[in-house]
Amino acid sequence: MGCCVKKIDIVRRILGERWGSVPQSLDGKAFAPTNIALCKYWGKRNQELNLPVTSSLSISLGKKGASVALKPIADTQDAVVLNGNAMNQESAFYKRLVHFLDLFRHANTTRLAVDIQSNIPVAAGLASSACGFASLVLALNELFAWRLTTADLSILARLGSGSASRSIWQGFVEWQAGERRDGMDSHGVLLDEIWPDLCIGLLIVSDNEKSISSREAMQRTVATSALYSAWPQKVADDLITLKQAIAHHDFELLGQAAESNAMTMHATMLSAWPAVSYAIPETVLAMQNVWRLRQQGLPLYFTQDAGPNIKLLFEKKNTDFVKSHFPHVEIIELLFTEPRASASVTGLDVS
Ligand code: DP6
Repeated sequence: MGCCVKKIDIVRRILGERWGSVPQSLDGKAFAPTNIALCKYWGKRNQELNLPVTSSLSISLGKKGASVALKPIADTQDAVVLNGNAMNQESAFYKRLVHFLDLFRHANTTRLAVDIQSNIPVAAGLASSACGFASLVLALNELFAWRLTTADLSILARLGSGSASRSIWQGFVEWQAGERRDGMDSHGVLLDEIWPDLCIGLLIVSDNEKSISSREAMQRTVATSALYSAWPQKVADDLITLKQAIAHHDFELLGQAAESNAMTMHATMLSAWPAVSYAIPETVLAMQNVWRLRQQGLPLYFTQDAGPNIKLLFEKKNTDFVKSHFPHVEIIELLFTEPRASASVTGLDVS
């Protein structure tokens, strides 16, 4: 397979004879957590297959994510419901989702009722596409009884959205960039580490739709930013540091590497043309608060994705202190997939 490999070629290769088969159960249900990258994915080497320029590393956000329930229906169109609201068939959301489902259908004309429940704001830079596509792939795997490996599930989720490749597990996940042109070696790998004292706090400063999609913004950054050439080396260095920090539960090392990685990603986008900026005044105020508290001795760090919201990183013992300074913070309970039970995925169902 070469440069013109299409998504559908990858799906056919992974599913083999199962491609286009009919549902094997009455329904398929799954949950996938959203994830935030401590070392970011920013830039693709292949737009069609969502193949990244670099590897990346994330932590999954426990029960924050999306549940999907799929049911075959006797209709000519798929019916998509998001948080109880039927999606208009003309909406970009509906079209993107149906386009993705079509990859798996081939001769099978079964239409589906897709019921998505998401407990995070959609399109606010909280990786809603990550948990959306990951939960969809997991639910399809149930409905069609594909019994795929987690690596294959991660590859299929990546075809929907790059960061979805990391949402197949709870805990620390490295999305290895891989080298192959068909991307068969570009998928998530669960790190054999748990860190129960690590805390993430969500600081939602706005849940408005983002001004520019991460997809478009990263493409523009790669095409126009003079700083982008420095990004791959920065990621390589940060990945080494983060893995070391995770292995030794060295919180300050983790916080520094994650915050510096996020700041570098945003600096790189700011130098794109036209510049891409996701920060709003409240984002900057929150950052300044973090820096002030750190100067006063509190080990508190942050990361920021393609949106204005801030994710605080701190240790459990400092929770009360963080809450007193950020009364609106939402503390996330992290969960970790047992590394040795690698056949199991997110370890949660939709209930
Ligand atoms: C800033 O995974 O949403 O959150 O592959 O085009 O769907 P596509 O992009 P997406 O980008 C996520 C970008 C990020 C960083 C990260 O999650 O690593």
